Amino acid sequence: MPAYRPPRIAASEITPERFFLDRRSFLAAAGGLVLGGASVAHAAALKPSTSPYKVDETLTPEKDVTSYNNFYEFGTGKGDPAANSQAFKPTPWTVKVDGLVGKPREFGLEELLAFPLEERPYRMRCVEAWSMVIPWVGFPLASLLDKVEPLGSAKYIAFETVVRPEEMPGQSGYFQPLPWPYREGLRLDEARHPLTILAVGLYGKTLPNQNGAPIRLVVPWKYGFKGIKSIVRISLTETAPPCTWNLAAPDEYGFYANVNPAVDHPRWSQATENRIGEGGFFGSNRRDTLPFNGYADDVAGLYAGMDLRVNF
Ligand code: MTE
Repeated sequence: MPAYRPPRIAASEITPERFFLDRRSFLAAAGGLVLGGASVAHAAALKPSTSPYKVDETLTPEKDVTSYNNFYEFGTGKGDPAANSQAFKPTPWTVKVDGLVGKPREFGLEELLAFPLEERPYRMRCVEAWSMVIPWVGFPLASLLDKVEPLGSAKYIAFETVVRPEEMPGQSGYFQPLPWPYREGLRLDEARHPLTILAVGLYGKTLPNQNGAPIRLVVPWKYGFKGIKSIVRISLTETAPPCTWNLAAPDEYGFYANVNPAVDHPRWSQATENRIGEGGFFGSNRRDTLPFNGYADDVAGLYAGMDLRVNF
């Protein structure tokens, strides 16, 4: 992984006008078509610039990225999010940013889509020992944080997913797999790292509902559960915020959740992973898991002096 270089984008390219058509088609498309009474969300094209981030590994086929998911608000099976999220409405949408910031405010979806969007193909590693390579479209979380001016006392950042039992069957059924809202958190320096993005699309199109429409977090050196979907609130805090999986099973899921082949989950090894969509009849799709998911050169310095077996 080469060292980070800021992308070279002409000023004319980053004007909101560049995204005007895309935004308009997105808002129309994501608002849903009414077909036989059911609202069906459709992806709209985005036009991201390429970023300096590259992975020389094959992209996971789009059909796997959008049909093999974890999103417990729509059910606990891998196929449940795609099957049960079609009535979810990702527009209109706002993200509230508050807490220890000088300028707390809400961002509408139009404004979020007007940040300069980049294509970021990232390796993703789920705590369940499967992995994918996904071409996300998004922008650095740091760009959003700059707009709200975090105070010196802010050390952490908390995220919350929307609660909509009427559109999310996993939040309304008899069996509630998790307490809602789904919550996640990062240390502020992790949140400001240039690899950390808010994603609004994948494969050049707006996010499908099952992948966290209209906006979700992507932190490629951490296990996938840190990548909270369908975010409605971001709060800057002084102390580490509660995180859903860490609260549910603190022995199994840490606050940091950095991908680490040397620290096993109590019930399975994290040394290798199953690359979804590869392998097949004769080939093997099993590969070694890399420290920090292959992003050690970029991020290991964030944890200098920390014992990552204790801070897992
Ligand atoms: N966000 C919410 N709100 N609810 C969830 O259940 N699952 C997490 C994460 N974000 C989850 C979530 C887990 S365990 C993983 S592995 C990733 O989403 C999966 O993202 P993907 O389905 O887009 O690959």
